[in-house]
Amino acid sequence: MEHIFKQGKEENGPTLLLLHGTGGNERDLLPLAEMIAPDHSILGVRGNVSEHGMPRFFRRLAEGVFDEEDLVFRTKELKEFIDECADKYGFDRTNVLAIGYSNGANIAASMLYHYSDAIHGAILFHAMVPIRSVEMADLNGTPIFIGAGETDPLIPAQETKELAADLEKSGAKVTEFWTKGGHQLTRDEVDQAAEWFKKNYKN
Ligand code: MLT
Repeated sequence: MEHIFKQGKEENGPTLLLLHGTGGNERDLLPLAEMIAPDHSILGVRGNVSEHGMPRFFRRLAEGVFDEEDLVFRTKELKEFIDECADKYGFDRTNVLAIGYSNGANIAASMLYHYSDAIHGAILFHAMVPIRSVEMADLNGTPIFIGAGETDPLIPAQETKELAADLEKSGAKVTEFWTKGGHQLTRDEVDQAAEWFKKNYKN
């Protein structure tokens, strides 16, 4: 997969896996990583699917309606790509924190639903319930931050609550942060995610 890896100065703590929204690329979330966890190593990845030239992490049939077969395939593909990168760049495969926005948050959520060891923490900005037909993986204490907008036209509040409940039931430690905004990422959410990161990873 197209990607960028940058070795951070910080030798302990998680490598940040950056997953962009529809139409983005492997560099899009670099400024977010800088705001949330400066000095950590980062792996920014570009989605392998193209929707009219816009990179995505999996196919969709319509807005908000996912091609589940492709989602399952791409989720495994991304997990295995992280395995390869850990070998190649020498980062700790057992400590990867995903930061995803929209489509990128959805594939991060899909990794959490399917696997207990694909990622070890997640910051999900404007994520949906990725799939409803799987038995959830055991998430045993995985720290997860969910940022959501009360008036997000793509994601009803009820769906965010379902996502949080699914993850919690599987053992994850979920923190929700709500803004009055829509689907766009707000500065508030990023600041809260940075606070959450400090609390969970810098003690
Ligand atoms: C998705 O397809 O993953 C969601 O609808 C969000 C997006 O448009 O990227």
